[in-house]
Amino acid sequence: MNRNTVIISGSPKAPGKAASDFLAKITAEVFQEDGSQPRVISVRRTLDKKYTEQAFQEMASADALVIIFPLYIFCLPGITMRFLQMYKAYLDAHPEAKKDMSVYAVVNCGFPEPQINLEAVQVVCRFASAIGAGFRFGVMIGGGGMLNVPLRSAKKKLEEYRAAARQIKTDFAEGNRNRKDHILIHSPAARKWYFILGNIGWSMQARKFGNKKRDLYAKPYQPAQNT
Ligand SMILES: Cc1cc2nc3c(=O)[nH]c(=O)nc-3n(C[C@H](O)[C@H](O)[C@H](O)COP(=O)(O)O)c2cc1C
Repeated sequence: MNRNTVIISGSPKAPGKAASDFLAKITAEVFQEDGSQPRVISVRRTLDKKYTEQAFQEMASADALVIIFPLYIFCLPGITMRFLQMYKAYLDAHPEAKKDMSVYAVVNCGFPEPQINLEAVQVVCRFASAIGAGFRFGVMIGGGGMLNVPLRSAKKKLEEYRAAARQIKTDFAEGNRNRKDHILIHSPAARKWYFILGNIGWSMQARKFGNKKRDLYAKPYQPAQNT
């Protein structure tokens, strides 16, 4: 069986700095366990360097696309959305390149609840049907930015992600067609700690830019009060 897999990393952050890049690396490692050589494509680098034609050729020759991205305002980041639209336009211009392939979505968000990624997964599902591919399932991750921190709870969640990536690999290798549920990975930090650490983070950022904690509550665009 052909195991031609393309892993797409869709964070707008500088390459190497994103949780999505980290997840793409882990996914590639999981596929390599069986000797496959998946190709990893960074959306940001591809668009910056204008390598889209080459990237689209590689995507069109894949049997599986694993699309990994962060949740931005409860959806896909603009550059990932644009990249997928450009790929659809490429396939429309090259109909001979269209082929049956399996599509998987891996979405990580900042909030602890992984289920808030569902709508973004559904957008990838619509994308798959628009390019004539078969959408399989999504992996939805809460507190994704914490997955590579050196904490025991984070390491446990990372192992959960490795197991999810193995499910993607097996699903694809077996050519499954039956419906499969999405996989949810909850944040490594308990909800309470998530908010405590988040608030400390905001205060630190305010200080870094010469502001005080109370400045975070400023409402500069509030309409003037009639006195
Ligand atoms: C502009 C922007 C919008 C975001 N919107 C959401 C959101 O709607 N929900 C959420 O849980 N996290 C949101 N986040 C947090 C990211 O999803 C989170 O930090 C993620 O781990 C970043 O992944 P990356 O490092 O791969 O870019 C947002 C972050 C940014 C910068």
